[in-house]
Amino acid sequence: MRVAIVGGGPAGLYLSILLKLADSRHHVTVIERNRPDDTFGWGVVFSDQTMENFADADAATHRRITESFAHWDDIDIHFKGEVVTSSGHGFCGISRKALLGILQGRAQRLGVELHFSTEIDPATLDSHKLLAGADLIVAADGINSRIRAAFADDFGPDLETRRNRFIWLGTHQPFDAFKFIFKETGFGWFWVHAYRFDKDTSTFIVESSEDAWRRAGLDKASTDQSIAFLEREFRDHLGGHRLMSNAAHLRGSAWLNFVRVGNRTWRRGRIVLMGDSAHTAHFSIGSGTKLAMEDAIALGRHLGRGVGLDRALEDYEDERRLEVLRLQSAARNSTEWFESLHRYLHLEPTQFAYSLLTRSQRVSHENLRKRDASYLTNVERWFAAASGATAADAGSPMFQPFTLRGMTLANRVVVSPMAMYSAVDGVAGDFHLVHLGARALGGAGLVYTEMTCVAADARITPGCAGMYDDAHLAAWKRIVDFVHQSSRARIAIQLGHAGRKGSTRVGWEGYDEPLPAGNWKLIAASPIAYGPQNQVPAEMTRADMERVRDQFVAAARRAASAGFDLLELHMAHGYLLSGFITPLSNRRGDEYGGSLENRLRFPLEVFDAVRAAWPADRPMSVRLSATDWAEGGIDGEDAVAIARVFKAHGCDLIDVSAGQTTRAAKPVYGRMFQTPYSDRIRNEAGIATMAVGNITDYDQINGILAAGRADLCALARPHLSDPNWTLRAAADQGYAQQPWPDPYQAGKEQWERQRRRTAEAGPI
Ligand SMILES: Cc1cc2nc3c(=O)[nH]c(=O)nc-3n(C[C@H](O)[C@H](O)[C@H](O)COP(=O)(O)OP(=O)(O)OC[C@H]3O[C@@H](n4cnc5c(N)ncnc54)[C@H](O)[C@@H]3O)c2cc1C
Ligand SMILES: Cc1cc2nc3c(=O)[nH]c(=O)nc-3n(C[C@H](O)[C@H](O)[C@H](O)COP(=O)(O)O)c2cc1C
Repeated sequence: MRVAIVGGGPAGLYLSILLKLADSRHHVTVIERNRPDDTFGWGVVFSDQTMENFADADAATHRRITESFAHWDDIDIHFKGEVVTSSGHGFCGISRKALLGILQGRAQRLGVELHFSTEIDPATLDSHKLLAGADLIVAADGINSRIRAAFADDFGPDLETRRNRFIWLGTHQPFDAFKFIFKETGFGWFWVHAYRFDKDTSTFIVESSEDAWRRAGLDKASTDQSIAFLEREFRDHLGGHRLMSNAAHLRGSAWLNFVRVGNRTWRRGRIVLMGDSAHTAHFSIGSGTKLAMEDAIALGRHLGRGVGLDRALEDYEDERRLEVLRLQSAARNSTEWFESLHRYLHLEPTQFAYSLLTRSQRVSHENLRKRDASYLTNVERWFAAASGATAADAGSPMFQPFTLRGMTLANRVVVSPMAMYSAVDGVAGDFHLVHLGARALGGAGLVYTEMTCVAADARITPGCAGMYDDAHLAAWKRIVDFVHQSSRARIAIQLGHAGRKGSTRVGWEGYDEPLPAGNWKLIAASPIAYGPQNQVPAEMTRADMERVRDQFVAAARRAASAGFDLLELHMAHGYLLSGFITPLSNRRGDEYGGSLENRLRFPLEVFDAVRAAWPADRPMSVRLSATDWAEGGIDGEDAVAIARVFKAHGCDLIDVSAGQTTRAAKPVYGRMFQTPYSDRIRNEAGIATMAVGNITDYDQINGILAAGRADLCALARPHLSDPNWTLRAAADQGYAQQPWPDPYQAGKEQWERQRRRTAEAGPI
């Protein structure tokens, strides 16, 4: 086979080696525009796991790399005069130049034809003497791939330029750990990602927001002036060493914006993309070279299977695309964390560092414990102390108390509101007593009722519970009393009005579909039906608004008498109040439509009236859809603005949900998929939040809480499969202090013993 590889970076050279190792008869050519030891950048990092992959692919190259790298375990985070150290990260750094030298030497010895100082013009792919007879042309020509650009119609590249500025420098300061150094300058924050990659040289990447960079005048500064500025600002960390640039190859400024590269396909006939030309991953997760070299491993393997070129290329792309997407998604989280740094600057160093370490969502709470148990114990102690816990071994973040006004929760786990569609004429019956009672006994700190409706015609379905009659009050009081007498849980009521999503069937008979008969009239912000089958609601008049506001107030008074500990107004999921907030269903021309201020006017009027009627020592929450997941709808920034307004009106907690406001929504599901909205609202609007949405294990909960992404975590579906979710999570974590109901003690001991034995036995 004749293979021509354009680009002698890590991807191209490594592939050439692996092809020759697979079959020395292959004719492999690498064409590189630079000279052998011209190189940009300083060092690159590989994790221990990546090194194992290299060992399997080519032991000799792996050995040479391990001879020249610097290994470290610690990450030091410098922030506001403190240094937080977390160990066990297992990375090695190597100079890019040394890596290329090793790869070039190995390729040469194996008989790869190397051509340096030769730039390939994509227009000559068919005629160039080094390429013409090739069975396969590999475009390993880097992030600015000319081959990809020349055949853009076929590859379908998607290039996304990110917001922050960065510069890739080196220094002879031999850092003894991977360093993140955050520095507030007179112009804003600048920060460093630094690591040693050989005896006496370290990579020193400096990043900042575009604004800070401009304010510091760096848009007009030469590389030397930029270096002088950074040497001054980071003097305390440089130990008298200079910063160095080797970006002479770059035209213009040495400051760059990261470009995220993706492609619709990586294949075009006999041409295939590999490494940075196919995909990039932000430097803050240090995986670009790893991905490039692992591409080479996969491509080499598939080409060696004897399945024909087309099939081999297809299988290579299929295999790598998945892994690349996983890493790009982690890299996107990491990129966004650094782009949103302003959000986290108010955090104390311990929490700031934890948020940084877990930013990509690849490293979890338990992961950190495995890496460095004493670091994690410090984080947990800090969290417990910040939560007011007094016990020496207070347990993980989910077991810490949380106080809002006069209500203190025993822990941070919440049973999310869930409609049971099992009420008769709005009366919560035995089903509700058993359902909510069981979950309160099951250890959650707070249990929410389902959306409880403020009027008969405010219900979603005929099976929805209400609070518009004294019979409702009595029914709820029985449940509240049980929870208070028999468990440590507090209980919250969620009040709502269905608006245009009312008069539908119970969940299991056709979610959001109108009743076959007996429909009642609907009202909403605007006369827009929720779906083609749904009724067109009447646009609410001022009189309607007053009536509905008063219905909310009457329900709140009854809820107070019933003894509920917290009252939530349901302003999410497209129901009446949510329907005012989102512009997708509010097209009013009066003072209740148009601007966000106008759209919030009626929901706020309801909030204020309820707040005035609800006892001052009991907290209130508001559930929001933080995004409509639809064109022209609410998104993160609006959600922060909305949360700020409710905070100013005395709201204590935002329950951060998303979507369900329009049938046109395109939600992006995944683990903890709504938590980023909670993170943003909590840390930008400065209000307590509850995260919800596909949070399924205690590791996720502890991570969300410790990082300050939320104050509480609500679980809905997990509580349907296991009412005792919290009790079991406590036993799984070896947290014996978790109280169980007295009559259940025998079960506690047995369960804990079994969990201990399972843990000791280890994985099967
Ligand atoms: C600031 C920064 C820090 C980084 N840190 C890390 C890190 O710590 N760890 C990590 O793993 N990765 C890191 N990376 C990413 C890493 O540099 C790349 O992902 C990696 O080099 C990709 O390898 P490659 O072989 O695909 O491309 P490249 O290394 O870019 O190689 C492409 C080669 O093709 C040559 N070429 C281009 N066009 C032509 C042409 N027309 N004709 C002939 N030759 C051509 C180029 O000269 C170049 O040598 C970092 C990147 C940046 C920007
Ligand atoms: C059966 C069921 C009923 C629900 N009813 C309500 C409700 O009445 N009010 C509400 O705000 N959310 C309701 N939700 C949404 C949940 O509170 C929660 O936000 C959602 O299920 C995502 O959390 P999960 O991934 O833990 O299930 C309901 C969810 C389920 C599964």
